[in-house]
Amino acid sequence: MTVCITGTPGTGKSSVSKVLKKRGYNVVSQNDTAKKYIIGADPDRNTEIIDEDKWVEEFKPFDGIIEGHITHLLPCRRLVVLRCRPDVLKKRLLKRGYSEEKASENAMAEALDVVLVESLEVHPGDIIFESDTTFADVEKTADEIEMFIEGKTSFRYGSTDWSEYLGERI
Ligand SMILES: Nc1ncnc2c1ncn2[C@@H]1O[C@H](COP(=O)(O)OP(=O)(O)OP(=O)(O)O)[C@@H](O)[C@H]1O
Ligand SMILES: [Mg+2]
Repeated sequence: MTVCITGTPGTGKSSVSKVLKKRGYNVVSQNDTAKKYIIGADPDRNTEIIDEDKWVEEFKPFDGIIEGHITHLLPCRRLVVLRCRPDVLKKRLLKRGYSEEKASENAMAEALDVVLVESLEVHPGDIIFESDTTFADVEKTADEIEMFIEGKTSFRYGSTDWSEYLGERI
């Protein structure tokens, strides 16, 4: 069963996946599978451009977890969407060395629920599990995800509301 973990950069996908890997799950990173599909570089963003359609089309379902900020585009049986309050997310990204502009852009995308909205465009709601990492412990977040993956908790989304952050400059 393919499980995808998605979310705006900085929401905690890699950190929580590391914990899940330690717990015995087969974990793959989006970057490792997308290398073959790089079609250029985006110097403004300092990132690579990926042929997303082809990457999705050629993706082979597997038994494990794939984590990355566009994994919600992939076919999967369970989808985890990590969330983080925009002001906290921005701090995490600045601490990691992101520019003010890039940190702010990502915080705004998080405030707008971009990843969740895209997820719901691709998948039915009953495979989606949203988890707020703002003040959560990584181990606790991993516990929640594990319960969902194992079918012990039901789908859940729509309870985070970052709309108060939309009116101000994040
Ligand atoms: N509950 C939590 N779950 C996961 N990470 C958390 C949590 N609480 C705080 N963090 C922190 O948030 C940061 C998340 O960084 P991480 O690299 O895991 O994000 P990411 O979603 O993989 O970003 P990217 O898309 O850029 O790869 C880490 O510093 C981590 O310690
Ligand atoms: Mg990561």
